[in-house]
Amino acid sequence: MNMMITGAGGYIGSHAVRKAINEGHRVIAVDDFSHGFPEAIDPRAIVARANIENTELMSDTLQTHSIEAIVHFSAYSEVRESITNPAKYYLNNVARTIKFLEAVKESEVKYFIFSSSAAVYGEPLYTPIDEDHPKAPLSPYGRTKLMVEQILSDYSQVAKFKYTSLRYFNVAGASPEGDLGEAHEPETHLIPIVLKVALGELPFVQIFGSDYNTPDGTCIRDYIHVEDLVQAHFLAISFLQLNHSEVFNLGSERGFSVREVIETCRRVTGKSIETREEPRRVGDPAILVASSIKSRTELNWTPKFPELDSMVLDAWNWHRKHPKGYRS
Ligand SMILES: NC(=O)c1ccc[n+]([C@@H]2O[C@H](COP(=O)([O-])OP(=O)(O)OC[C@H]3O[C@@H](n4cnc5c(N)ncnc54)[C@H](O)[C@@H]3O)[C@@H](O)[C@H]2O)c1
Repeated sequence: MNMMITGAGGYIGSHAVRKAINEGHRVIAVDDFSHGFPEAIDPRAIVARANIENTELMSDTLQTHSIEAIVHFSAYSEVRESITNPAKYYLNNVARTIKFLEAVKESEVKYFIFSSSAAVYGEPLYTPIDEDHPKAPLSPYGRTKLMVEQILSDYSQVAKFKYTSLRYFNVAGASPEGDLGEAHEPETHLIPIVLKVALGELPFVQIFGSDYNTPDGTCIRDYIHVEDLVQAHFLAISFLQLNHSEVFNLGSERGFSVREVIETCRRVTGKSIETREEPRRVGDPAILVASSIKSRTELNWTPKFPELDSMVLDAWNWHRKHPKGYRS
């Protein structure tokens, strides 16, 4: 299949490009490199350094390469920044996606896979969270994801494509080969931050809130290995070949507290990792754990690396080799 992957130089996109090519697809890798890294993209991909808002260029690229499927990762994804600078998020994640969809609408694209997020749910009313849980995002970032889900529904009525919105919980880990990994600048995700402390790149881990109503007082999150996450995207394309548009959660269905994650990192790295307790942050729910029953039954998705230890170990192998990210 001829496939376009946007955000291809980013953390998840780079793993998806590798996987797509290994599965025999031809990949056009789009990224403006506002955050991602050209070095992260498999050299077998055709790279288009471009912003998805360039409707004309995207239209030409879709046509020239007879693209049948799009995996749309490109977005800004720092929740805190979206609160302080909402315009940046509505512009990049929503307005630019609309400009991109204007190109897709006129193309022969049949399948569109969208990176949504658990952030669409907001404060959980119950756990595990299934796809029917009410949507009440707590940040502009979460709202941009929900808006694009709704916009896709509208576009799929007038375009030739069907779509899936995949709501990721906390993505973690790195390629088991150790050459692709998580390098956000700035890094806001817990596991890479803890590993940077283990490497001496950061002085301590901040624990935001230790008085939550959880067994050890810290927030609980559901972690999913990036390789398992990426696999679900290809299953979603196969699903769309036979079915209508759908929305799926992607999580491991197990929750780990911040302290448990730090303890796992200590065990895997053999390093003592200093922590500092800070007040709660606004908008952090106590517990976010997915129900992925729908993905397991309808996509036939089975995570291969559900253990937190394997996520941390793969991430650690990458961070040790790349203490300053792709630039080291
Ligand atoms: N990492 C997670 O835990 C997580 C969880 C839920 C959802 N998501 C979503 O998954 C997607 C990928 O996340 P990631 O962690 O790989 O992020 P990332 O920042 O590593 O990658 C995003 C990539 O998109 C590119 N990009 C951004 N705006 C662009 C534009 N307008 N045109 C072209 N390229 C553009 C960036 O340069 C970057 O390479 C995002 O949509 C994110 O919101 C991620």
